[in-house]
Amino acid sequence: MNRRPTAILISGRGSNLAALLAAAADPSYPARIALVLSNRPDAAGLDRARTAGVPAAVVDHRTFRGDRAAFEAAVNERLDAAGVEIVALAGFLRVLTEGFVARWQDRLVNIHPSLLPAFKGLDTHARALAAGVKIHGCTVHLVRAGVDEGPILAQAAVPVLDEDTEATLAARVLEQEHRIYPPALAALAAGRVRIAGGRAIVTGAAAPAGALANPLPAPAAPPTPSTG
Ligand code: GRF
Repeated sequence: MNRRPTAILISGRGSNLAALLAAAADPSYPARIALVLSNRPDAAGLDRARTAGVPAAVVDHRTFRGDRAAFEAAVNERLDAAGVEIVALAGFLRVLTEGFVARWQDRLVNIHPSLLPAFKGLDTHARALAAGVKIHGCTVHLVRAGVDEGPILAQAAVPVLDEDTEATLAARVLEQEHRIYPPALAALAAGRVRIAGGRAIVTGAAAPAGALANPLPAPAAPPTPSTG
């Protein structure tokens, strides 16, 4: 099988990277992780890559002193040297220029911790709590020039509970991120994604039955035993 050489771009922890590495350890997974690239030398995800035996590189944005184009040229150089065809952003905290996004059009994918188009940008869990939404989640999407914009490949929803803190909500969402990112990247790598009128049509995937509602009606009280 022709596995598409894929780079994963990170800035930190790398738990989504770990999920993608685990999926790609299966030789039938349609993407091969050819490179993990971080803009921060201290990103914990770099160790995950090395442990998995995947080439890891650092292009430190600080050495480019705000020159985004030069930073991205250095990133592209690494990607090209590794023969990369698909780029997956996984907690990569640099905004990319239109030029970079155009170069990787429909081959650049991101995961965002909200149900887009709600809560673009940062602090999504705190903002979801402040807004009082009852359902929150995560989105895998193709990247377009606008921040957190682009055709949606997959989403997962979770309930927001009354007792949630930012941390508990983030953890519930993160679990779903790890669940939906590997199959979404697989669909892209396998050529099962078609763009139609700004929407992504993903073929060869099953749609779940049922719906998530929160809160549910209170369970009926058990009948009181008669004393007669
Ligand atoms: C994730 O919540 C992802 O959705 C967001 O940044 C976070 C990265 O976490 N873009 P990790 O580095 O993958 O653990």
